[in-house]
Amino acid sequence: MWTPDPNIVRSALALVEGEKNLTANLANISALLFYSLKDLNWAGFYLWSEEDKELVLGPFQGKPACLRIKPNRGVCGAAYREQSTQRVPDVHAFPGHIACDGDTRSELVVPLMHQGQCVGVLDLDSPRLDRFTSEDQLLVEELVTTFMPIIWRTK
Ligand code: SME
Repeated sequence: MWTPDPNIVRSALALVEGEKNLTANLANISALLFYSLKDLNWAGFYLWSEEDKELVLGPFQGKPACLRIKPNRGVCGAAYREQSTQRVPDVHAFPGHIACDGDTRSELVVPLMHQGQCVGVLDLDSPRLDRFTSEDQLLVEELVTTFMPIIWRTK
């Protein structure tokens, strides 16, 4: 049985330790985030397809979402293209925001970097305006830089 650890980074490490399947690890990390952070309506991954040159929906928690995102579209596309975290306090003020879930008001998207390349993004959505603080951003970035070398080497 899984019991939550208040330290989310430690919790993520415990979840991925010993498992080499990428899908399984991303699925558990999305569930960990969805149930650990307050006021989220979506938490999940879009992975870059080198073949299709677009982001493709990966493991997530929340309502069914857009399957594919071109790199020149949306908050996820911006995070991928600029290889930098996008913290959007009001999605309605973000040009080109893709409304997968009409409840979403703010969004945090962190690029997944592997050996200098962006291989996907982690997307967190909230129905609350300005939900994500700079502390949240640092925490999620720390989480991503901690789990990426562990889960990606086994892809
Ligand atoms: N809102 C995102 C699209 C993904 S969904 O929110 C799950 C965007 O603008 O890229």
